[in-house]
This record gives sequence, C-alpha cells and structure tokens, in this order.
Amino acid sequence: MTKLRVLSGMQPSGQPTLGNYIGAMRNYVKLQHTHDCYFMVVDLHAITVPQDPGALKEQTESVAALYLAAGIDPSQATIFLQSSVSGHAELGWLLTTLTYMGELERMTQFKDKSEGKESVGVGLFTYPSLMAADILLYNADLVPVGDDQKQHLELTRDLAHRFNGRFGDTFKIPQGYIPEVGARIMSLDDASKKMSKSNPNAGSYIAMLDAPDVIRKKISRAVTDSGREVKFDPVNKPEVSNLLSIYSAVTDQSVEEIEAMYAGQGYGPFKKGLAEAVVALLEPLQQKYKDIRESGDLQRILREGREKASEQAERTLGEVKSKMGYVIL
Ligand code: AMP
Ligand code: TRP
Repeated sequence: MTKLRVLSGMQPSGQPTLGNYIGAMRNYVKLQHTHDCYFMVVDLHAITVPQDPGALKEQTESVAALYLAAGIDPSQATIFLQSSVSGHAELGWLLTTLTYMGELERMTQFKDKSEGKESVGVGLFTYPSLMAADILLYNADLVPVGDDQKQHLELTRDLAHRFNGRFGDTFKIPQGYIPEVGARIMSLDDASKKMSKSNPNAGSYIAMLDAPDVIRKKISRAVTDSGREVKFDPVNKPEVSNLLSIYSAVTDQSVEEIEAMYAGQGYGPFKKGLAEAVVALLEPLQQKYKDIRESGDLQRILREGREKASEQAERTLGEVKSKMGYVIL
C-alpha cells in the first residue's frame, strides 16, 4: 500500500518555541516512520513581515537544524527550504487568482498580525494562498499543524475544491493533523494569547534553544492565579491549565496524573517539576543541534531535499498549468 503523504512547514521568523515543538514539530517526528513526509522551512512566508537579511539566513538554517535535532531523519523524510523550490511562488500566484478578497479578509491571523499597524504588506494578506500552494503542490493527505492554522487549512481545502471544479480533478483534499493535547500552547505571561516567537517579551515563551537556567527562570516567573490548587480548569484557572497542558505534552502523562502528583502542594513544586521536565526534553535536543550546526551537513541535506521536492512540485505544476490553459513548450 502506498503511504499517505504528509507536508508541513515552520516560519524562520524568530526562535522556535516550545509551542512550535508541542503543536507541530514533534508530530513531524512521529509521522515520518509511517508516512511519506515533506517538511520545509517556509522562508517565503517569513517575509510577509519585514526581516533583516542576516537574521533571516541564520534563522532559516536554525529551523532546519532544529528539525534534525528534534529527530527528523533525512533518510526518512524530505527536508527542504520553500524558497529553493520555485513552484511554491508560482502555484502561489495561480491560487491567489482563485482566492476571493472576502476569504482573506476573514482570516484571524491576518487580523491579529495587521492590527494597529500603520502599513501592512499585501503579502501578509495573500499569505494563506501561498500556504495552500505549499500543500497542494505535493498533493499532501495530512498536514500536521497547531490549532491556529485550522482556518488556513480550511481555505486550502476550499481552493482545492474550487480548482478541481473549474479545471477538472487535480488536487487531493488535505486533512489537518492537530494534536489533542498541546494544539494551542499559551503565553507564560498572558494565557489569553498563544505562545509566539514573535512576542517582544522573551519571558512569554520558552525557546527550544533557551539554556536550562533560562527555562527554569521563565517557568518560575510564569503568571498564575492567587490560589494554590493544581487543577485543570481553563475557564477559572487558564494559566495553571496551560502549564498543565505543557506538562502533560512534555511528559506524556495525563493531566489527571499530574494533578494527583501535586495535590495539596501548591504551585512552587509544580513549577519546579515542570521546569525539570522541559529541561530534560530540550537539553539533549540542544546538544544535537550544536553538533549539527558544527558538522556542516545541513547544506547537503537541504540540497538533496530540494531535488526530491522539486521533482514532485514540477509534476504538479505542469498538470495545473496545462489544465488552466497555459501553452506548455
Ligand atoms: P509558525 O511559528 O507560525 O511557523 O508555526 C509553526 C507551527 O507551530 C504551526 O503548525 C503552528 O500551528 C504551530 N504553533 C505555533 N505556535 C503554537 C502554539 N503556541 N501552540 C501550539 N502550536 C503552535
Ligand atoms: N502558516 C503556517 C504557520 O504560520 C506555516 C506554513 C506555511 C505551513 N506553509 C505551510 C504549515 C504548509 C503547514 C503546511 O504556522
């Protein structure tokens, strides 16, 4: 039986966080053994907000190295850079012309990212059509993402149906693969906002590359309510509930087990236990990351990834252009 195809990507727009890891990256690692996987660094998406060229390059290499450090094996999965396969930009444009203004105006990520800004780039607005191209170019069956990408996935499915309806059956209709626990990890300083690498307050997130002592400090300073009961109650205790979700995701223990472990002990021991669990998860990954950055293997792996991805992308793009009426020379 042929394996189902998986595709996902992460933006090199800052330091990947524990939210990225729990919501998405660790599922990439799980899926690679049973699926035909493509994981990319979406560097074209990153420039929908201004990026310093030096920082973009460093962060792009850093995200690719983190994929490997987290356990994605290039002999099992294809790892590549979005910008290295020109088909993304090309299909992105073709799908932009099929997308309605109203659809993009409804996107909550666009509303959040553009709110209060004096000037907003058009790319930020059309970003979801490019994401649809990323997915449809590979005819992906499954897309592992966090909760915040649901709306973009829905648009991808709509665009696939629209294209198929107008030009004949071409694209598979992809499904999201969203974890039950940890699909939406919240900020440490404000449980009403998702943990995000673009938050200017570094205390609001745990970066995957934060040193152990930084992790301990950030968790000890995480906002909690004034009570002392370690209990999962997202309505009345959103901060503690968020920490419990992180604890559960990081240790694979159920929330009930963790509540029982800290019954009657207050938040101090709970936070200490959480910090040690996060350190135990990230420390070995950070060591691997360092080795990978020093080894110089990254360029070769990304080039090989580009070869495999391009082949697939070219095939889809050829079919799409021919169906749309482009003269194929
Ligand atoms: P981004 O950093 O926006 O490129 O996101 C990369 C992946 O991480 C996407 O699948 C997101 O849905 C996921 N993700 C980002 N932030 C979080 C979060 N706070 N909790 C869970 N998943 C997240
Ligand atoms: N929009 C996604 C995010 O911000 C990143 C992304 C771009 C993506 N292209 C994708 C995710 C294709 C999955 C599949 O997190």
